[in-house]
Amino acid sequence: MRADLVVVGSGFFGLTVAERAAAELGMDVVVVERRDHLGGNAFSEFEPATGIEVHRYGSHLFHTSNERVWRYANRFTAFTDYRHRVLSVVGDRVYPLPISLATICAYFGRMMSPAEARRLIAEQAAEQVDVGTLEGRAISLIGRPLYEAFVRGYTAKQWQTDPRELPGDVISRLPVRYTFDTRYFNDLYEGLPVDGYTAWLERMADHPRIEVRLGVDFFELDDSPVGTIPVVYTGPLDRYFGYTEGRLGWRTLDFELEIKSVADFQGAAVVNYADAEVPYTRIHEFRHFHPERDHYPDDRTVIMREYSRFAGPGDEPYYPINSPADRRMLARYRERAKAERGVLFGGRLGTYRYLDMHMAIGSALSMVDNRLRVPAQR
Ligand code: FDA
Repeated sequence: MRADLVVVGSGFFGLTVAERAAAELGMDVVVVERRDHLGGNAFSEFEPATGIEVHRYGSHLFHTSNERVWRYANRFTAFTDYRHRVLSVVGDRVYPLPISLATICAYFGRMMSPAEARRLIAEQAAEQVDVGTLEGRAISLIGRPLYEAFVRGYTAKQWQTDPRELPGDVISRLPVRYTFDTRYFNDLYEGLPVDGYTAWLERMADHPRIEVRLGVDFFELDDSPVGTIPVVYTGPLDRYFGYTEGRLGWRTLDFELEIKSVADFQGAAVVNYADAEVPYTRIHEFRHFHPERDHYPDDRTVIMREYSRFAGPGDEPYYPINSPADRRMLARYRERAKAERGVLFGGRLGTYRYLDMHMAIGSALSMVDNRLRVPAQR
């Protein structure tokens, strides 16, 4: 293979490194991607029967407070003024999420001032509980009624485990907003790419010095570049080392796509289902991400039900489980990664960390600054 740099994986991390290495550092870059499309989990496609843009690996909302990342992203795409809001169905009622004054007033069935709501939640959170379990920790943060309505069933579905048997450190905080602001994100910048995610990702890869090889697994290359050409690896960390220290734990998701013969199925982009009896965790309805698109049909809509479970060996890894055993294993893999000459590990799979898109882009820009740029170019 002839290249100055090989990037494994074409998600936001890999493409940011490839784009900067080519455009700024003048390197010839080969990107190898196992899947038959670029973009990693942010990939989207226009569903052929309806023309509605579907995020194949779950809803992707772009948001950031990082000026540098925002400026960088805007080189490749303009953003709509979409602001994300989420609803949660509990029994036969529906409430805004994250928990806000709007949720609290609706749930307890009366108007409260911010101070009254704070007092009520503080009283309910004062219950004596074992904070070593997820249930106890959640109750100590938001009180039992809100925990039982919004957290218990949803968490049990996400983890296939009773929250009384999950460790408390699975949740660090459960933010409660004592205002009627029902926006999901607090970031300075938010929006969706006007022409869709794939157009954005393709523009990043569209450089004469970048060659993307789709459907190519790095571990099946005839001529491995390791040792001869620098490699940035964004695939699973444990796989790189042949799982010799064990398999890091992940949760995966199953998605069930359906075209409905109605203009609007649920009136919102994302609705969570909090009750344990409902088998799915969320329903996504993609038309609501782009109310500005006038070519969407008015007699059909695309929905996607989401189910959560532990990942088996052949499944897509989505969310790190991060159990104490995983953390010990990760420390051993990190030592080995540090000692691996000519290979840099990055991205959510390569570092075993959940990263939002803006975090993946930000850490890729830092890797280019700190690890790829030769001192003379600084
Ligand atoms: P990513 O996983 O995207 O890319 C890695 C690539 O490497 C993949 O394309 C994979 O096929 C490839 N690869 C792996 N092994 C390989 C091998 N051996 N050879 C060749 N290629 C290989 N973020 C956000 O900001 N807002 C949001 O709303 C969401 N929503 C969301 C939902 C769900 C369900 C998930 C799982 C994630 C999100 N994210 C998100 C996070 C977002 O998807 C994430 O930031 C990016 O995927 C990170 O990009 P990476 O490049 O690190 O990984």
